[in-house]
Parts: sequence; C-alpha cells; structure tokens
Amino acid sequence: MGIDVGGSSIKCALVDLDTGAFASERFSTPTPAQGPTDALLNALNTVVSNVPGDYAVGLAFPSVVRNGCALTAANLNKAWIGKPLAAMAGERLHRPVIAINDADAAGLAELRDGAARGVAGTVLLLTLGTGIGTALFVDGRLVPNTEFGHLQVAGREAELRASGRAKVEQNLSWDAWAEQLNRVLEEMHALLWPDLIVLCGGITEEPEKFMSKLHCEAPL
Ligand code: BGC
Repeated sequence: MGIDVGGSSIKCALVDLDTGAFASERFSTPTPAQGPTDALLNALNTVVSNVPGDYAVGLAFPSVVRNGCALTAANLNKAWIGKPLAAMAGERLHRPVIAINDADAAGLAELRDGAARGVAGTVLLLTLGTGIGTALFVDGRLVPNTEFGHLQVAGREAELRASGRAKVEQNLSWDAWAEQLNRVLEEMHALLWPDLIVLCGGITEEPEKFMSKLHCEAPL
C-alpha cells in the first residue's frame, strides 16, 4: 500500500509492485499539515481504513527522512522534527511502515517505471507541489534527501518562486510562473549539470500550458 502525504492532501492506494500500476481505487483526505502529529496520524488511518487487507505501507513524506525519522518540516507542523515517523505510523496503522522523502519516492518510481527509466548519468527530479521536492540519481543510485527546493535563487528560495503553491498564492500567469521555473532550472543546472531533469507534481498534469515556455540546457 502506498501513501503519499502532500501539503494539501494525503493519497492512498494499493500498488502492483510488478507493474507500478494502481491495484485499488485511490482514496484521499485533506492533510492537517499544521495540526498536531496525532491529527496527521489519524488522517493516515482514515485513508488506510478504506482499503481492505492489512498490507504493509510505503509512506512518502514531505520532509527529510532518515532511518524512519522525520528530520525537517518545511511545510508541516515543526513538532514532526525528530519524530520516529515510521514507528508512529506503524503503531497507529497496525502494520509495517517504511517511510522515505516524497520526492525520493517519486524519483524511484520514475526511474523504475517512468521518464527516467534506463537513463544513465545524473538525473534530477523536481516535484512542483506545495513545496519543491527534489530527487537526485547518479547512474540509477539515489542520493537521498536532497533539498534543492530550498536553494536560494537570486536571494529567494526556489520553492517560493516556482512551486505549484507559488503559482496559486501569488496568482502568477503561466508565463510568469514558467519564467520563475526557468530561473530555478538554470540555477540547479549550473550547480549539478544533470543529463535529464524530470518534472512532476499536480501542476504538470497540464504540460501544454507551460512546457513550451521552459528552456534548460538539460533535456526536460
Ligand atoms: C521539503 C521536502 C519535500 C518537498 C516536497 C519541501 O519543502 O523540504 O522535504 O520533499 O517540500 O514535498
């Protein structure tokens, strides 16, 4: 069972590990992002209780996650910092839980079944949602917990410029948002020289609105 904790909603579904396809309906509930840790654990329980069976859980979480512990909380209640996330979720959901950073999870999926499949060299993946998450791969190996969404780009954090939330909250036109994303891509490219950049996140469901406005030295 896969659970993705996003800034605005928590999504849950069974996933066929052989094909990467959903093996059940997808359920979601709003994320109590700034609420106490208990509220978020309750929300996890709510989505999970919709899916029959007591499958083990892979939990994608929007923070640095090391050895099952959440170590940052950029867009969450700061009470999460230092908490044993996987153990707490396992206890609440009564099943084994493995937790990793959300962008790293997205990157592993793209590498196995998506846009980065079979790509050698350096691959950078960006999730453009409430924040900007990043996953970095070198010859198919994940460098875990990269946080380039917090890179300062001309004095302002990348995720405050070009996340999905930045577009909505700052009421940016597609042109203005794409221009911000171009600045972010340029800076990341200058520092990492990736062979491929993969863009994902809800906003990329409308590629026709912005892909033609992006320019980057790496293939997108
Ligand atoms: C967090 C990352 C997370 C990203 C996307 C950032 O604000 O620091 O850990 O991957 O948002 O959710």
